[in-house]
Amino acid sequence: MAGVNIEIRENAGLRVIGPITITDKDGKNYEIPEGEWVTFCRCGKSENKPFCDSAHRDVSFEAESVAK
Ligand code: FES
Repeated sequence: MAGVNIEIRENAGLRVIGPITITDKDGKNYEIPEGEWVTFCRCGKSENKPFCDSAHRDVSFEAESVAK
């Protein structure tokens, strides 16, 4: 299995490419198959947290998008 790839989207969320398992607070698992992806919000404005719903566009979110 390949390592997990996390893509820092410019002024947007963090895209995580599967295969990964997301576990919520109740211990329920959500499987993201290989080659599919989810994007996690980092602007704090999504109505569907922890996932990005593109609300970052409405608030002109800006953030460092380079891994140092
Ligand atoms: S980063 Fe996209 S809605 Fe927050």
